[in-house]
Amino acid sequence: MPLDEKDMLDLLTGRTPFFSLPQPLYNDQALYELDLDLLFGRRWILAGFECQIKEPGQFFVVDIGRNSIIVVRDEAGGVRGFFNTCRHRGSRICDAESGKAKRLVCPYHQWSYKLDGTLAKAPNMHEGFTGEGLDLRPAHVQTIGGTIWLCLAKQPPDFTTHADAVGQFLAPHRLADAKVAYTTKAYVNANWKVVDENSRECYHCPTGHPELLRTFKNDFNRAAPADNPAIAALWRKCEAAGIAAGLVDGKDFRISRIPFAEGIQSTTLEGKPAVARPLADLPFPDIGQLRWHHFPSMFGHVYNDYAMFYRMLPAGQERTLVTATWLVAADAVEGIDYDLRTLTEVWDLTNEQDAVLSERNQRGINTDGYVPGPYNKVQERDVIKFVDWYCETMKDLLTAGIRELA
Ligand code: FES
Ligand SMILES: [Fe+2]
Repeated sequence: MPLDEKDMLDLLTGRTPFFSLPQPLYNDQALYELDLDLLFGRRWILAGFECQIKEPGQFFVVDIGRNSIIVVRDEAGGVRGFFNTCRHRGSRICDAESGKAKRLVCPYHQWSYKLDGTLAKAPNMHEGFTGEGLDLRPAHVQTIGGTIWLCLAKQPPDFTTHADAVGQFLAPHRLADAKVAYTTKAYVNANWKVVDENSRECYHCPTGHPELLRTFKNDFNRAAPADNPAIAALWRKCEAAGIAAGLVDGKDFRISRIPFAEGIQSTTLEGKPAVARPLADLPFPDIGQLRWHHFPSMFGHVYNDYAMFYRMLPAGQERTLVTATWLVAADAVEGIDYDLRTLTEVWDLTNEQDAVLSERNQRGINTDGYVPGPYNKVQERDVIKFVDWYCETMKDLLTAGIRELA
């Protein structure tokens, strides 16, 4: 018998705290569908970047579970999100992943929509047809410091705590004015939670990521980073220059600014900047690294010379689409101001290594030998944070849902 909401609630309630999750939460189809409906269908998800759609009519498409959303720059310069589903008989409208259009035209019977989603034309419909109430169905959209977020819920959950905190940190980096230098897309054969968990710890870094470890050090107390003199000094320097620093640890996100180790300026193999032109003109270039994560869809790192964002979207109960995006200054020229390989090799390798680790993790979880095991309370504290957040959020949503049904 397929598992249902009640089974999921029992698994979430009965799990052992500080241990990995019961097997069905990583590989059961019905429980995966509940993740899609309750979490990815209702939480705020990183869609992309404002610099992907600088001009009116530029759009990109993002698929979240079974839903597909067109994110488009409208005539007035705003960012809009619409279900990629025609209001005539429901055809998918945009096949292209991105593009530019004056109107969004359904390829089936050529109904066309303005960039604000209103139905512009429904060719040769019967007399008396008005098209009223047949605009594209909108999704909630919010931008933070050049990043674009979507929420498919009727009533989106509060986003202001996250948006306010992150907005301040991102503001000086001017990501809305940047450009995408490189993108990778990879389907990882693992449940999205396996991929998320892997992204939240560096316990595996010493053996898993030799290249990343050349510049990526976690040798400070996460609970009290200001105890570290180098971190405290950077925060003081930033504050004096009016640049947001410090650490904000939210329930479903964290953002912090920390310095690189001595002699390191960026996340590259040699530790030198990859891009000659900085993302933004800051009062000093040794701004360190902005580290940011938000559950369930992303983490990002912003440096003086580039930013790398890692987005995880479910594409099946054991399949996750990982998209990595590198942003650089809009006027930086490839081959002159930066070399693409130098820019991307550390995170590209790291992301490939993580895919292997997650897939191997999933294969082990799927066997009869799997029982939940203990997280490292120091080195996997962010995995614990993620899993606790997941379990509590799902329990709340399921309880509310079950009450609604009762
Ligand atoms: S389904 Fe889109 S025009 Fe017919
Ligand atoms: Fe990793």
